[in-house]
Parts: sequence; C-alpha cells; structure tokens
Amino acid sequence: MKKYLLSFICFGIFIFSILSCKNNEQETNDSKEGQIAEVQTDEDFRPNFHFTPEKNWMNDPNGMFYLNGTYHLYFQYYPKDNVWGPMHWGHATSKDMITWEEQEIALYPDEKGYIFSGSAVVDKKNTSGFGEEGKTPVVAIFTYHDPIGEEEEREDYQSQAIAYSLDEGYSWIKYEGNPVIPNPGIKDFRDPKVTWDDIHKQWLMALATREKTLFYTSQNLKEWTKVSEFGEGTGAHNGVWECPDFFPMQVEGSDQTKWVLIQSLNPGGYNGGSGTQYFIGDFDGKTFTPEENMKDLEEKHNFWIDFGRDNYAGVTWANIPAEDGRKLFMGWMSNWLYAQEVPTETWRSAMTVARELKLIKEGDRYLITSRPVEELDKYRAAEVIKKEVNINGNTTVLNSENIDLGKAEISFTINDLQEITYNFRLSNKAGEEFIVSYDHAQKKFSVNRSHSGQTDFSDKFASEISTAPRISDSEDLKATFILDKTSIEMFFDDGKTVMTEIFFPNQPWEAFSFSGLEDFTVKNFKAYELKFNKQRKKDAESKGER
Ligand code: FRU
Repeated sequence: MKKYLLSFICFGIFIFSILSCKNNEQETNDSKEGQIAEVQTDEDFRPNFHFTPEKNWMNDPNGMFYLNGTYHLYFQYYPKDNVWGPMHWGHATSKDMITWEEQEIALYPDEKGYIFSGSAVVDKKNTSGFGEEGKTPVVAIFTYHDPIGEEEEREDYQSQAIAYSLDEGYSWIKYEGNPVIPNPGIKDFRDPKVTWDDIHKQWLMALATREKTLFYTSQNLKEWTKVSEFGEGTGAHNGVWECPDFFPMQVEGSDQTKWVLIQSLNPGGYNGGSGTQYFIGDFDGKTFTPEENMKDLEEKHNFWIDFGRDNYAGVTWANIPAEDGRKLFMGWMSNWLYAQEVPTETWRSAMTVARELKLIKEGDRYLITSRPVEELDKYRAAEVIKKEVNINGNTTVLNSENIDLGKAEISFTINDLQEITYNFRLSNKAGEEFIVSYDHAQKKFSVNRSHSGQTDFSDKFASEISTAPRISDSEDLKATFILDKTSIEMFFDDGKTVMTEIFFPNQPWEAFSFSGLEDFTVKNFKAYELKFNKQRKKDAESKGER
C-alpha cells in the first residue's frame, strides 16, 4: 500500500512537473511573444547619428558645400508626407559632418516645377555677378521637374536652373533667367553637379541623361556650353543614369592626377535596384576618356562606390579647403526598390556616414576606396579591445551590456585566410539575425538579412542575398563596421570593398559573433561605443507651412 502511495505521489509529482514545465514553457513563449509584441518602430528605428529629417520623406543628398567652418547638406525633401512627392531642398548643417542640425527648407517648388537634385558651389570670384556688397554668393544648380509636362507625356519637362544665396546658404533667391539649360528634348535630363575645374579654369557640369553623362562648361554659371557626352557602351546600363559627380583626384602616393566620374543608376545597381558605379580616366577640358579596363561591357561592371543595397545618389562636398584636401562623400542610405515602404512613419530614410574617398593604383587598376571620416573617431567612448580571440563554433565576442550595438564601431583582422566561409553575425533576443559572410574560396562577401526583423513591408527587401566581390588580393582580411540602430556600413580591406545595408530588427541587436567551419583567430578586435548628444533639430512644425 505504502509502495503504491509512494508511486502515486511520485506520479503526481511527475504530472505536476510536466504541467508546470508546460506552464513554464507557456510562460516563456508568452513572454517571448510579449517581447516580440513590443516591437521597435519609428523612433526606436531613428538612427543615433546618421542624418534623418525630423519629419517625412527624404532622398538624395544635394548641394553639399563647406564654408567658414560649416558643412552644408541639402536633400530631396517632401515635407508633407512620408513618401516621395513634390520635391523641395531640405537643409541641414554640421561642424563635423557627424552631428547635424536641421534648418529651414532651402528651396520650394514653384510654377516651373519641383526642385530635383543638384549641387552648390561657392562662387568666390563672383563669376556669376550675384555677389553684392562684398558678399560671396553661393550658387545652387538644380533640375526643375515640371509635373504638368510629365503628365502630358512631353519629353522636355526637366531643365537646369540656378539660385543664389548671400547668407552662406540659409536663404536662396531663384535666378530670374531660369532655366539656364532648357531641355533639348531628352526625357531624363537631370541632377547637375558643378565643380570649379581649376586645371582648365572653367565651371564644369556633369549632367545625367538616360544612359549617358553630358558635360557642359561655363565661365559664369549662367551660360553653359555642352562639350561632350560619355557612357555609351561603357559601365552598367540596366537603368537610368542619375546624380553624377565629376572631379580630379591625385593618385595616393604619387603626383599623378586622374579624373573620377561617379555615376548612379536606377535600377541596375550591383545587387539590383539603385546603385553607384564609378569610372576613372582622363579629361582634356572637354572629353572624358576612361581607362581601358573600365570599358568592358562583357563582364559585370565591377567599379562601385558601394556594393551594398543601401547607398545611392552619393556625391562629394564642394569648397573643401586645399589645406584639408579631402574628397568627402555622402549618399542616401536606401534603395528605390523599397525606400517608400520601410517601416518608419514619421520620417523616412537616412544618409550614410560622411566618407573620405581616396584614389589608389594597384597594378594597372585604379580604385576608389572609402572610409568613414576621421571626425567620427572623436565620438569613441566605451571600448572593448581584444588582441586575439579564438573562434570555435559560434563565438560571441561582444554584447550590448558592454557596448550599445546601435551606435558602435567594430574593427578586426583575420590573418592567413583559409578556404572557408567566415560569418559575422548580429543577433537579438527575438531570435533575429543579420549575417555577413566572407567566402574566401570564391572571394565573395554576402549579406543575408532575411531574418533580420521586419522585412515583409516589401518583397524586394530581403528575398535575395546581396553580394560583393573581394577586390583585395591580400591573405589578411581587415574589416571596419559602423553600426547605427538600423544600418551597418562595412569597409573591408581599407575600403576597397564597401557594403552598406539597412535593417529593422524587432529588438535592438544584442550580440556580435563570429563563426566558421574551421576554427580561426580574430586579431586586433576593437569595438567602440560612439557617444552622441541627441540630434538637435529646429522646430519641425514650422516647416513646410510657408
Ligand atoms: C535619384 C533621383 C534623381 C532626381 C531625384 C528626385 O534618386 O531620381 O534623379 O533628381 O531623385 O527626387
């Protein structure tokens, strides 16, 4: 009897423990669901330091120039909705290209049309004659996009126009003689990028048309002469060419000068959708001739400022002082494939971190490299430094208790690469992950964001794995990752291969780990938390109501 009683009690305990186990499981599931239910949205997704407008829609960076200690950034902006609409130029300023302050809208659409992308120059010699009382004019050159012409299916609804500012870029007066370049009957005819060409003493404009870049020159920014065209049969062509930039650069470690043409296109980017290719060559003041090895259309064009999916329409700053001498670049951190559907409501899209471009020569190949501007280093705070970490299976090297992975810089080296795939992974408590891989046998990087959180807002966002070729031949891999809440910018091999990708995890990233089929060693692992004061913004309510 006692025996039975004991076994009855034991059975009872067993049943109870199963039930309570179930209950626990239920509880865990519930709390997990509870966690997932508290998904990140909107302000949780707003970057800690990448520029976003306080409210509503933004695309391309425009008219970037530097003057008297201030970096100016204008941007394609629609102040009334969180999707693309009648374009304005929004405006933001910064002392270091990292912390931005949003300003009043700079240019409003008018009866001639929307204000599409373009550039700005500091007209120090007052060649335009816009200067008054010794004030240096800043001249903006932009595209008027006439929506009525577009609706009527005319070809000539885009033309080039100018405006000037006598208060260093805060307020603008549109030139009464606009347009300065009327449309010659070309449907896509836009995004003028003007540079002072000090070699040939002229203002130089690169302008994008369907599948070509057109070059114009001027002495006064008002009268322009077309001097040549470039692009037929060269480079990537599966879309419309947009947002060019054209400038000379000195080859690192030499006194040789080459000309660089940056040319975005949409679609037709390396990983589909929008992307930014470049060409290097010579320019005689009228005609651009690319290097032989950049002409090949048989192979996939392999010269991209960034191979990732989320860096588009990037251009460089004008008027950087000669003592500084850097070529400073910024792009729009999104892709036309899904930009208007990303899961933020109050604001949409961020810019990339400002980057320094360099021109290098390896063998007979010229390359553009990029790295985050050194100004970012000043924001480094808490650090985790490991001289050597042995990776054995999935090894977490960093977690959010040490460093907030929503504002971090991580760098490391892997020496003597083996013929395996190396994985670098961000993961969170909701079981989501963002995986970057490097396959050394194929010399290929890839990014899988299919389980990175919110992805179903567009079937174009995460259905594919994005890839990039490894450009460097080195047996050592160097990497620097810049992390914000919804983006990662990956600079491999001192910026020879760059990939920028965005993501929308339901919980903040919690851990950064490495894995590979074989054991390996990570050297010089350095992680910094980047410290920011909240982005200062002017009262957004007053915007767009003028
Ligand atoms: C590129 C682009 C430009 C155009 C602007 C309009 O993203 O399509 O060609 O000027 O956006 O907002």
